[in-house]
Formats: sequence, C-alpha cells, structure tokens
Amino acid sequence: RLDVTEMFQDISFPGHLHTQDSLQQAVEFNFQDTDILIASYPKSGTTWMQEIVTLVYSRGDPHLSQTVPNWTRAPWLEQYYCTAVLEASSAVPRLLTTHLPYRLLRTAIQDSKAKVIYVSRNPKDVMVSFYHFHKMANFLPDIGSFPEFLDRFLEGKLHFGSWFEHIIGWTQTAAVSNLLHVTYEEMLLDPQGAIKKISLFLQCPLAEDEINNCVKHCSFSSMKDNKMINYTLVPQEIMDHSKGSFMRKGEIGDWKNMFTEEQRRRFDSVFSSKMQQCSLQFVWE
Ligand code: PPS
Repeated sequence: RLDVTEMFQDISFPGHLHTQDSLQQAVEFNFQDTDILIASYPKSGTTWMQEIVTLVYSRGDPHLSQTVPNWTRAPWLEQYYCTAVLEASSAVPRLLTTHLPYRLLRTAIQDSKAKVIYVSRNPKDVMVSFYHFHKMANFLPDIGSFPEFLDRFLEGKLHFGSWFEHIIGWTQTAAVSNLLHVTYEEMLLDPQGAIKKISLFLQCPLAEDEINNCVKHCSFSSMKDNKMINYTLVPQEIMDHSKGSFMRKGEIGDWKNMFTEEQRRRFDSVFSSKMQQCSLQFVWE
C-alpha cells in the first residue's frame, strides 16, 4: 500500500516519502549559513517558489529548471531521499524545501544564518487545492467527502498538521532572523515585484530583462508544460494524472466554486478564533 501514515510528534505524514529516521534527521539538520530554505504548508505555492529561486540564481535562464527535477534541485528536508541528494550535489547555496512546522525545526534553525523564504496562501484556496490533490495522489489517504475534508482541515488533522499552527509558527516568531514572507497572491498579482523582492533577499539583484525572463519561465503555463516541475515524471501508480493535474488551476478564489455559504461561515468563524493574535491580511479573491 502506498497510503501508509507515519506519525511524528503528533503530526501525520505520508509514509511513502517520510520515515521516522528521515523526520528525525530533518529535526536535527545541520544548516549551513549559506542554505536557502523554502518553508510552506502544502499547496501554498511551494513548487512555484522552487522554480522562482532556481530561475533567480540562473538570472532568468531556464536551462537548470528544464533539465533537473524540482525534488533534486530543492529536496524536502524531511523526505527520505534528502540526504542522498545533498551528498550527490556540490551546489552552493543549497536550496532546501520543508513542509514542517516551525516548532519541529526551531532547534535546528534558530542559531543559523540560513535564509528562509516562507510562502503562504489564503487557507481556503490551500484547502481546495489540497482536496483535489488528495484525489490524484495515491500516497495520500482516502479523504471522504468535501465537508469531511473541511472538518479535518479546520481540526488540523490532515497530513502535515494544522495550517493555523504552521503559519503562526513561521511568521509570528522573531527567532528566525533571516526570513522573507512571500504570498501566493502577490506572486500572482505582481510577479515582477515578487521576483525582485526575492532576488534582493537572496542578494542576487537582477536586471529588468532577467526579471522578465524569470516571470516568463515561472508562469503557470510554462510550469504546466515543464515536466521537471509538473510531476508527470512521477509514475502513474503514485500520482494518477488521469484524475487531475498537479498544476491544476493556479488561481485566487477557486474556493468559491466549492464552499457552500454555511461552510464559508464555519470556516470564517474557526479562522477568526484561531487567528486572533495574528495580524496577517489575506487576499481571498
Ligand atoms: S505541494 O504539493 O505542497 O508542493 O504544492 P504547492 O506547490 O505548494 O501548491 C500547488 C498549487 O500551486 C499552484 N501553482 C501555481 N499557481 C500559479 N502560478 C504558478 N506558476 C503555479 N505553480 C503552481 C498549483 O496549480 C496548485 O494550486 P491549484 O489551486 O491546485 O491549482
């Protein structure tokens, strides 16, 4: 079976990609000061940021992003193959990805100068994207109906844990000194501005035509056609491309096509109580 679950520190993970050892190694990871870590809750724009950072370091040249799969360019710290990928690479800086909440990486990262790019997206779109992804990803558990999925999201019981804990942990802490927060919505509404901000944070300032090349190659349509990033290299039994596509819609506000009025009210009420201490503003449509 592909959809086994691995429990680690009260969070469930897909056992197809995670083991107790790989999760423990992530928690104890030895960050180098030059490392770049992309942190996100699933379906928030992770893959997009992997592409943007690759393109920024290539100054808009798509060669690397069109020849090396994203999981080799920017492996997930907590997945079992990470150590082997890092050992086989001499890339500096190392580009890493994680879906872990801050509390699991706090000890490893707090004294490091590694740069963290935290990507967030409005949680209704995150949830809808995650719901569709569960249908095509055979390594994720059976999800049941949309209302059941919504309950589990609000309770923080899905794989990778609570969205609320994730965003509060990573954005409301002063402990990570080198953190840039970028939203999915700003990448979509102002790609030039977002890429410029990311390139400056990475201390890799780009000329205008280089930024425009990055924008072109990380657009939804370019990424949908790039097999190094659209997950079509993953075998059908693991991701069933007849049931959907990883690059599904790439929009803001698709949640409105799924939520009933009652579900919206329930979501909003849980959202306001759990996000009371959090001043972040979200773009919902
Ligand atoms: S994962 O599984 O956690 O790595 O998923 P993640 O990459 O975080 O999120 C997948 C969603 O991001 C959308 N996406 C994009 N949208 C707009 N433009 C670009 N370039 C882009 N690249 C990825 C992708 O389509 C998923 O969102 P949905 O809403 O399902 O379309």
